[in-house]
Amino acid sequence: MHISLKGQVAVVTGASSGLGEGAARALAAAGAAVVVNYNAHAEPAQKLVAEIQAAGGQAVAVGADVSQEEQVAHLFAETIKAFGFVDILIANSGLQKDAPMVDMTLADWNTVIGVNLTGQFLCARAALRQFAKQTDRRVSRAAGKIIHMSSVHQVIPWAGHANYAASKGGVDMLMRTIAQEVGQQRIRVNSIAPGAIRTAINEQATHGAAAEKLLKLIPYGRIGDPEDVANAVVWLASDASDYVHGNTLFIDGGMSLYPEFRDNG
Ligand code: BGC
Repeated sequence: MHISLKGQVAVVTGASSGLGEGAARALAAAGAAVVVNYNAHAEPAQKLVAEIQAAGGQAVAVGADVSQEEQVAHLFAETIKAFGFVDILIANSGLQKDAPMVDMTLADWNTVIGVNLTGQFLCARAALRQFAKQTDRRVSRAAGKIIHMSSVHQVIPWAGHANYAASKGGVDMLMRTIAQEVGQQRIRVNSIAPGAIRTAINEQATHGAAAEKLLKLIPYGRIGDPEDVANAVVWLASDASDYVHGNTLFIDGGMSLYPEFRDNG
């Protein structure tokens, strides 16, 4: 199976680090022109753009906080200015502000819901509005593809992370509802739910004693790499997955299999 996204335009939010960075790099390697969105960190985003261009690909970096309506409008306007179309949205931006429930501030609740859930709503809506303007485009079997970055915590409750788990549970219903709503327009909508992946955000949890503890939660016995997720992003964005719609692909080494029950509970 050879996957090419040549001639397609992908917007990747939160692409200056972690899973977004890996996804942007892989989409560009598959031939897509990529918009590398960042919020606070322009420098790594620009570095990634330079790297993609040096490899013969097309990319631009665009700053925008996805929780802000007007900034999302700016992100899509800049995308159209640079590449004329949007074919693929990877709604990836996400953050954590952890605290036990009794100590969780409203500000931390709102920040996490704002970026992880409202941000995905705003970006998906902007993508859908753009797809509606380019219905005679024929670069893919689908008229547009949206991939939401969720988490195993859309199904696994996570003590000390109520805001994060609630946001990801929300992403699941958001994705499935959008998928139900727009499938008839040949727009495909799916989620990826990663487990523990070696990214900067997970630096502490994936090394030393913490890693040993974490591995007990992963039946397949290894911590994931950003490429594990990036490969799935490319596949889900391509015609190779054209009949996959309204689904969540768990990329978690089996973390969502309730491994605590391995030895008969
Ligand atoms: C979180 C990681 C965590 C993983 C598994 C992800 O959604 O971002 O910090 O290690 O879930 O618990």
